[in-house]
Amino acid sequence: VPPQLIDRFGRTVDYLRISITDRCDFRCVYCMAEDMVFLPRAQILSLEEIYTLAQTFTGLGVKKIRITGGEPLVRKGALELLQKIGALPGLEELVLTTNGSQLAAMAPALKAAGVKRVNISLDTLDAAKFKAITRTGDLQQVINGIQAATAVGFERVKLNAVILKGRNHEEVGALVSFAIAQGVDISFIEEMPLGVVAQHDRSDAYYASDRIKADLAKTFTLEPSAAKTGGPSNYFNIVGTTTRVGFISPHSENFCGTCNRVRLTVEGRLLLCLGNEHSVDLKQVLRSQPGDSAALTQAIIAAMQIKPEKHEFNIHEQPVILRYMNMTGG
Ligand code: GTP
Ligand code: 5AD
Ligand code: SF4
Repeated sequence: VPPQLIDRFGRTVDYLRISITDRCDFRCVYCMAEDMVFLPRAQILSLEEIYTLAQTFTGLGVKKIRITGGEPLVRKGALELLQKIGALPGLEELVLTTNGSQLAAMAPALKAAGVKRVNISLDTLDAAKFKAITRTGDLQQVINGIQAATAVGFERVKLNAVILKGRNHEEVGALVSFAIAQGVDISFIEEMPLGVVAQHDRSDAYYASDRIKADLAKTFTLEPSAAKTGGPSNYFNIVGTTTRVGFISPHSENFCGTCNRVRLTVEGRLLLCLGNEHSVDLKQVLRSQPGDSAALTQAIIAAMQIKPEKHEFNIHEQPVILRYMNMTGG
């Protein structure tokens, strides 16, 4: 399918991230408020609506779909949806971002559904710190999930660690050693200011990717890698291993120039940029003109004209984006 989604800056959009639920069994301190109120059923897209949208996007040249949440695997019917999306003609890669809590049980079925790669959040290897960061999560359950994912043979498994100074910045070496031992990749992420979080001051907690690189250089040899997954990670090989370390650095190294993605929120808003509110209400198009695929296609093509050039995150001020990460899946 030739690319049909091109924005005002000449960037081709061929990657769609879909948040299939805002719900999650964890309450990570950088992602959600502790007393998060989830959306009522009627406000979120049905599985059929999500499938229709995925189908329309692949018809417009989208080659990669990442399923996110919230925690995508807590939504009933997630597996069947993945199976159907995985079979869409034109789609080259179906990938998943998860907190890992359900993976021990679900990894084989996900593989069978056609999921190629899985990203699993893991910020710490210390059970008490894990509890403090996720508020409701259990470290051992996630480690079991990571092991189930590697056993099943996904093309690649990647860990994601949001590094916060004073909370887990001293663990970057241990996390990399763990990734090497498991034979997986790992990305370190600078926290983004979405929603108001009470647990820490984002400015104080900021730990730049260059500091992580310097910490790692004491133990490991990092070599720039040519690997490109179509996401914002800048990858390095760890010499002598199969593990790649990625850095996602929204503050210290803006990656918006090569942006190739848009997001579908759980409410059916097509969000043109994670760090801006520019969006088009596709749920409204779906529900007011049911079955009108031309209207949907036109709305999506037209939306490319309002894709912003870049995010303007500022961790030293109150967040401008009040939406929490769990609505958009990062
Ligand atoms: P690939 O798509 O396979 O490269 O994976 P990824 O690392 O991009 O995706 P994942 O879902 O694992 O997200 C990791 C982190 O990258 C999360 O914190 C996301 O919020 C962040 N991220 C992904 N895309 C963007 C983006 O377009 N802008 C910003 N600011 N952050 C992004
Ligand atoms: N900033 C950066 N990354 C975040 N994530 C969740 N909230 C934030 C935030 N505020 C990460 C999760 C997960 C990925 C999808 O996004 O840890 O790995
Ligand atoms: Fe759940 Fe992921 Fe948000 Fe943590 S970061 S609360 S695991 S959606």
